[in-house]
Amino acid sequence: MQAIEAFPGNDNEVGLQFSADGSLRHLLSLKGLDKALLVDLLDDAERFVPPPGGKAVRSRSLAGRTIANLFFEPSTRTRASFDLAGKRLGADVLNLDVNTSSRKKGESILDTIYTLQAMQVDIMVVRDASAGVPAYIARHVDDHVSILNAGEGDVSHPTQGLLDLLTIRQRKGQFADLTVAIVGDIMHSRVARSAAQGLNTLGVGELRLISPPALAPDPDEMPFASILDNLDDGLRDADVVMALRIQRERIGSLDGIPGIDEYFANYGISTERMQLAAADAIVMHPGPMNRGIEIESALADSPASAITQQVANGVAVRMAVLERVSNSMEHN
Ligand code: CP
Repeated sequence: MQAIEAFPGNDNEVGLQFSADGSLRHLLSLKGLDKALLVDLLDDAERFVPPPGGKAVRSRSLAGRTIANLFFEPSTRTRASFDLAGKRLGADVLNLDVNTSSRKKGESILDTIYTLQAMQVDIMVVRDASAGVPAYIARHVDDHVSILNAGEGDVSHPTQGLLDLLTIRQRKGQFADLTVAIVGDIMHSRVARSAAQGLNTLGVGELRLISPPALAPDPDEMPFASILDNLDDGLRDADVVMALRIQRERIGSLDGIPGIDEYFANYGISTERMQLAAADAIVMHPGPMNRGIEIESALADSPASAITQQVANGVAVRMAVLERVSNSMEHN
């Protein structure tokens, strides 16, 4: 049986992310990262995007550093891209297999962290289903260790937010004149929260959050966004449409949530429905996709889709973040 651990709720304290000199030590949330820092991170990430048809960008800027990837929840994109990002920067990368780790014998998360810390891990990349875990770990590690949030319950997924911002900037060039529509299970989506926080900081023109009423966010949580339950209203003239899957793993009861056919009919993003959006609108999805439920398969593979670009940008963004926190350690 696993040890029962209590984490202080959603305690992503903004100040915890920064060293005494103001540099980024941990990345726990996009909340509290100002516009200049977000733009800097996007510019840094751009350096790691290979030219069209070019080879992956590599450097030795993290040679001598050790990164541990600790995914206490499933992942394909985030885990693989953090792994590649660390290796392409020359770091030693440890991918802990949680399913065969001593967590399964009841070891606490902190004892797991202290064990890796004793092996001189510098950067720990953490995904966990519980709110508050990355900040809880960040409070307990030694001064020379950085924590990167790779997905925290329904609260935050900051590197996903950054890769979404980078993709939008590459495709649209700016944020101020854009209407962005995020569609789906907003209530349980850490992706929506991080994207919304970043878009708000970068001064997006209009942000619409569209979902069935049973999956809508608390209206007070993101007062800068409009909340809608009618997809056609939400898509009208949108420049960017981001589809989200229903986060079944975070939903206790499916009461009030439409079945698959009804969901696609009312909230699925299709080529036909995209006629309502701007003529040059792009479609995004953080993955994993449920084709035919939240997004039409042909649309996901169409020229309007930025989904593959999002995945590619995930490596670049994670390289930029790893380099940033590694540099912060050198200055402190
Ligand atoms: N977008 C995202 O976090 O995907 P994975 O769960 O595959 O990492």
